[in-house]
Amino acid sequence: MQTLNVSLGDRSYPIRIGCGLLGRNELLGPVVRARKAAIVTNETVAPLYLERLVATLNQSGVAAYSIVLPDGEAFKTWETLNVIFDRLLLEHCDRRTPVIALGGGVVGDMAGFAAATYQRGVPFVQVPTTLLAQVDSSVGGKTAINHPLGKNMIGAFYQPRLVLADTDTLSTLPDQELRAGLAEVIKYGLIRDPGFFAWIEDNAELLLGRSPEALAYAIHRSCRNKAEVVAADETEQGERALLNLGHTFGHAIEAGMGFGAWLHGEAVAAGTVIAAELSCRLGWIGPADLGRIRLLMERVGLPVVAPDLGVERYLALMAHDKKVEDGRLRLILLRGIGQGVISDQAPVAAIGDAILASCR
Ligand code: NAD
Ligand code: GLY
Repeated sequence: MQTLNVSLGDRSYPIRIGCGLLGRNELLGPVVRARKAAIVTNETVAPLYLERLVATLNQSGVAAYSIVLPDGEAFKTWETLNVIFDRLLLEHCDRRTPVIALGGGVVGDMAGFAAATYQRGVPFVQVPTTLLAQVDSSVGGKTAINHPLGKNMIGAFYQPRLVLADTDTLSTLPDQELRAGLAEVIKYGLIRDPGFFAWIEDNAELLLGRSPEALAYAIHRSCRNKAEVVAADETEQGERALLNLGHTFGHAIEAGMGFGAWLHGEAVAAGTVIAAELSCRLGWIGPADLGRIRLLMERVGLPVVAPDLGVERYLALMAHDKKVEDGRLRLILLRGIGQGVISDQAPVAAIGDAILASCR
């Protein structure tokens, strides 16, 4: 097992990464510290891992209630959130009852928002089971649900007390979901860790082949990058925005196509290529770097061509994104591989041209 720390003063917490962690009550027990806990999961993950997690909690003398949600981004809504609240109330959960998220980013984001708001905040634990959740969404305390007008529009910053990333759970993850997770792994290389980008280029086949060593290394290095960024800028006043590379375009793809039509990681991959295209058009990166980015995304089976929603629709959807400040679109662009920058300098015409060049 490897452990990283997210340093946030008295809200600091460990990220534990390794195989077999779901069965280790000595990791969960001391954090849960209550007689009962609520596990939020979904109908796909529950048959795979719920029983194991419940048994581990029982070993620590903790009774576990499970709240099993429908599966999918399309259910990341107020209605589903209310299902969690209904159950917490029916089970008489109080302010000490921890909420444990068992699943991917959708479950983690919704369970986290429920934990942030139920009785003004209850202890929260993340047990991520997708690559994307293990490298990104379970760390850093962003929680949210979607609104029909925009992705993750309603939410809160609320840190977990523990992230328990059991890499064994990735064995049941569909290939398409594994690839979607790699989009966020590549992101860390692009925004701040050029050596990691080169490592991914060298190890792409091992990652796709699910080499346990390669996956564990990628998860650890991704989480190290994320923990550093979050510790420096928890509420995204500056540097944390770099983690949104490709996301403003990606969120437009997700909302424009209907939530769930494109996987989040796929939309981020296509969005990252648009951001790289725009960076190249602005003369900030050369065609060789643009080519490297496209090629790596293609090699790991991620889309490099965005859906043709029309430039006007993209711009309208992007205007709803949280990255708009004073009417100017704040984008994450690149000044090299490993050099992400936050910029509101890209002219709208150049943004439109980059979108057009990247669409089918
Ligand atoms: P997801 O949660 O929808 O999971 C993907 C699919 O894999 C689902 O069908 C799920 O049921 C299934 N699954 C989960 N674990 C499995 C396992 N071990 N074996 C088999 N199937 C399994 O998607 P995701 O990619 O994990 O997360 C995407 C979401 O995360 C988006 O809503 C995105 O907005 C959010 N996100 C949040 C942050 C953050 O900082 N909070 C960061 C990135 C993404
Ligand atoms: N996934 C973006 C962030 O956590 O800030």
